[in-house]
Amino acid sequence: MTPLLDVLRDRLGLRGAKAGCGEGRCGACTVRLGDRTVASCLLPTVLATEPVTTVEGIAPPDGPLHPVQDALLEHGGVQCGACIPGMVVSICTLLESDPDPDEATVRAGLTGNICRCTGYQKIVEAALAAAGKDQP
Ligand code: FES
Ligand code: FES
Repeated sequence: MTPLLDVLRDRLGLRGAKAGCGEGRCGACTVRLGDRTVASCLLPTVLATEPVTTVEGIAPPDGPLHPVQDALLEHGGVQCGACIPGMVVSICTLLESDPDPDEATVRAGLTGNICRCTGYQKIVEAALAAAGKDQP
């Protein structure tokens, strides 16, 4: 019943997913489970019965970065970085299920991923850019 986040960080040394609120409200601990995202702080590991992808699995360890990561950097979507691992996992998961999202879809897809720094606009722009929708 140990939360998946604790197993990932403390037992497996995968510290990309962040420990934030611990209550399922901030999204810092977001990982992919199968084809959906979950708050790993709330999920008992025994219930993780599909493949788990953390931010470490989004791009090869020696690079290059995933296009979503590149877009976040290019569009100023990264400030303190605390939310970014969860944002990356959520954006990648969103774009896999909908490769051609509009802004409203991106914003809805990032519901639950809290960012205290950026005001979200640059993150949304980055997600749209990663989908090939660079804004003028
Ligand atoms: S640490 Fe899991 S949602 Fe905040
Ligand atoms: S960049 Fe600081 S919380 Fe999002």
